[in-house]
Amino acid sequence: MKQNWGKTVYYKQNHFVFKLAISILLVGFGFRLLFSQSSNVNPNVTDDNITITAPVVDKPIPSDLVESTNEFIQFQPKDDGSEKCNVFDGEWLPHSGGPAYTNNTCRWIESHQNCMGNGRPDTGYIYWKWSPKACELPRFDAKKFLEMMRDKSWAFVGDSITRNHLQSFLCLLSQVEDAVELYHDKDYKNRKWHFPSYNLTVSVMWSPFLAKADIFEDIDGVSSSEIQLHLDVLDKTWTEQFHTWDYVLFSSGKWFIKTAIYYENNSILGCHGCEGKNYTDLGFNFAYRKILKNLFDFIMNSNTKSTVIYRTSTPDHFENGSWSTGGSCDRTIPAKEGDFELSDLNRLLREIELPEISKAEEHASEKGMKLKLLDVTPLSLVRPDGHPGPYRHFYPFAKDKNAKVQYDCLHWCLPGPIDSWNDLLMNLVVNG
Ligand SMILES: *[C@@H]1O[C@H](CO)[C@@H](O)[C@H](O)[C@H]1NC(C)=O
Ligand SMILES: *[C@@H]1O[C@H](CO)[C@@H](O)[C@H](O)[C@H]1NC(C)=O
Ligand SMILES: *[C@@H]1O[C@H](CO)[C@@H](O)[C@H](O)[C@H]1NC(C)=O
Ligand SMILES: *[C@@H]1O[C@H](CO)[C@@H](O)[C@H](O)[C@H]1NC(C)=O
Ligand SMILES: *[C@@H]1O[C@H](CO)[C@@H](O)[C@H](O)[C@H]1NC(C)=O
Ligand SMILES: *[C@@H]1O[C@H](CO)[C@@H](O)[C@H](O)[C@H]1NC(C)=O
Ligand SMILES: *[C@@H]1O[C@H](CO)[C@@H](O)[C@H](O)[C@H]1NC(C)=O
Repeated sequence: MKQNWGKTVYYKQNHFVFKLAISILLVGFGFRLLFSQSSNVNPNVTDDNITITAPVVDKPIPSDLVESTNEFIQFQPKDDGSEKCNVFDGEWLPHSGGPAYTNNTCRWIESHQNCMGNGRPDTGYIYWKWSPKACELPRFDAKKFLEMMRDKSWAFVGDSITRNHLQSFLCLLSQVEDAVELYHDKDYKNRKWHFPSYNLTVSVMWSPFLAKADIFEDIDGVSSSEIQLHLDVLDKTWTEQFHTWDYVLFSSGKWFIKTAIYYENNSILGCHGCEGKNYTDLGFNFAYRKILKNLFDFIMNSNTKSTVIYRTSTPDHFENGSWSTGGSCDRTIPAKEGDFELSDLNRLLREIELPEISKAEEHASEKGMKLKLLDVTPLSLVRPDGHPGPYRHFYPFAKDKNAKVQYDCLHWCLPGPIDSWNDLLMNLVVNG
């Protein structure tokens, strides 16, 4: 019998303690997130004032409040005895082939993730390939993909990691035919491209909570008021267009740690981290679960013929400090399995994502709908070498070798390990 540790551990966790620990620790933090950045999407726009995200709490959650549940990442939501290879269970192997594109051959790389262009000196991190234990995972085949996607439309809905992923997708495809930009809003957060020879449309939609949220942040991510998050209303930015897409990829997560007032039926239900206000602190996991449930209900009720994919949240790798206390990420090779534990925050997100997606998958297959999990968390966890670090800026040490630079150990270099997410994405689409 196959033991499913993740499941056991998951049900043992004390949700209330978790919620409490997280809410206490997060109160009073200024969540100036890189996620809130806006106009730096264009390669030539630089915006030095953007603060790195706060995916990690500044202080570790006391160990007596949190059981060590590293095994949770091995949780298999679909352990139904089917013969299918689990492509998310594998390892990174050296790969001499190198990336399919570079900063010289793709013009869609955002400056903050253009590690090569920003002078990152080492290149070892691009010579690895994700290899599932039980089967061969072919690399993304842009030509074949474009042929398959003739007359189709794709959308990526989520936050700045979603955008990071989308740019990898565009770069891979643009090796066959460069995309033509059809639309962008003024902040370059919502954009649309077209591949003319294939009549493929690709959109990216900015919707960090997937639900209706009023966000009061300036361009630097400085917040003037709490986020007002409507747990029962999905974000019409994407719901209005949902029916037009053949393939939709959703993801979310990290924004939920920000201080927010939660609404339901337009009245205040409670909050997360709103110290000094007379509201019940419900914890962000309450909100995340609720919104995911709404998302999947919406999808089920739409009876869509589209393929819907949910991507799990992605870990960060700040070491020797957090994002705000000088944490860094200087590694140049992948970590060994077990070197990095999922942060408590990531684990909380994951323990909501996996069961909710699993339930939705079951429901979808009963209805003959296509809903799939893109589980990038485990394979991303062992790639601390794949982040821009100081190279989110153009030659950060050019003037001063010891310059103090804000590290980005959350987003991913392009090219980089995030390209493998698209190998997996293509596999999902081709093999179901
Ligand atoms: C980016 O640079 C190009 C060429 O320098 C320029 O034409 C374009 O307007 C710039 N875009 C933005 C958004 O500044
Ligand atoms: C960053 O913000 C400070 C204060 O708001 C401003 O003085 C500075 O010019 C900004 N730097 C950049 C690069 O925008
Ligand atoms: C790409 O990066 C290399 C350094 O690795 C640099 O020499 C080159 O100018 C960059 N190309 C562009 C278009 O920025
Ligand atoms: C392009 O694809 C769209 C669907 O995404 C379709 O409505 C349209 O007719 C196609 N255009 C051509 C020229 O085939
Ligand atoms: C919101 O409305 C729904 C249905 O009308 C109801 O079931 C639910 O209890 C209400 N929630 C709150 C917080 O009032
Ligand atoms: C907080 O809310 C409770 C219940 O709604 C109320 O009894 C109490 O007076 C409120 N406290 C303050 C300081 O407003
Ligand atoms: C963290 O600090 C240790 C000891 O000072 C050092 O050996 C290691 O390289 C540092 N790690 C990173 C990622 O900077």
